[in-house]
Amino acid sequence: MPTPTVRLLSPSDDAHLLPYLAYIQAACIYHDKMVATFLPPLDSDKLLEYWREMIQEVGAGTRLIIIQLDELEPGPAAKGGELKGVVTLRMPQTETCTHQGHLEKLMVCPSYRRRGAAKTMIRFLEMEAVKRGRRLIMLSTEVGSPAEKMYPKLGYVEYGTVPGCSIGPSRDTVDDVFFYKQLS
Ligand SMILES: CC(C)(COP(=O)(O)OP(=O)(O)OC[C@H]1O[C@@H](n2cnc3c(N)ncnc32)[C@H](O)[C@@H]1OP(=O)(O)O)[C@@H](O)C(=O)NCCC(=O)NCCS
Repeated sequence: MPTPTVRLLSPSDDAHLLPYLAYIQAACIYHDKMVATFLPPLDSDKLLEYWREMIQEVGAGTRLIIIQLDELEPGPAAKGGELKGVVTLRMPQTETCTHQGHLEKLMVCPSYRRRGAAKTMIRFLEMEAVKRGRRLIMLSTEVGSPAEKMYPKLGYVEYGTVPGCSIGPSRDTVDDVFFYKQLS
């Protein structure tokens, strides 16, 4: 039986997961019409470069990448196919924002949904954020998405919506809803 594991991505040990991160992002854009930086038709080189930069930010200490694995053989070396979900925490470096963490790119493989992966990754992200003094978590998501229903259940407070905030995969503008959570 595979074992679900949530942990931080390590730039040295997990660089081989890069194409699998790009794959999950592409799946969420095509399957869920998620607003996730790029518009279809997707260019795989751009997605790979994007995740390369995200992993560099982990190395620079400005971002955490949390991964959900479903491991056949639990151990430090994850296989690409075992990657089932991801969420990142961007940590602004400006002097006035060192207490903030921005939750970005929460994505779970369509075939791995409703098993608690998002909930577990967010709880893990919050623990790691507190360890780094990032006690104010901020995020946005699309109005009408499953994520909009999920965040309040995890203690996130809605503070407003912006009509026509982003351009969605169908090239229509979409409304975004903004949340925050103070961690104790
Ligand atoms: C939103 C998303 C991350 C949820 O991932 P998940 O692993 O299925 O979520 P979980 O199983 O941890 O569910 C957590 C809670 O969220 C809510 N939820 C999740 N999916 C839902 C859905 N489709 N409809 C209604 N509520 C939903 C439920 O309250 C759920 O708790 P419950 O199962 O105990 O009722 C996933 O659907 C996804 O990757 N969607 C596409 C990308 C996206 O929109 N990301 C969010 C960007 S901010």
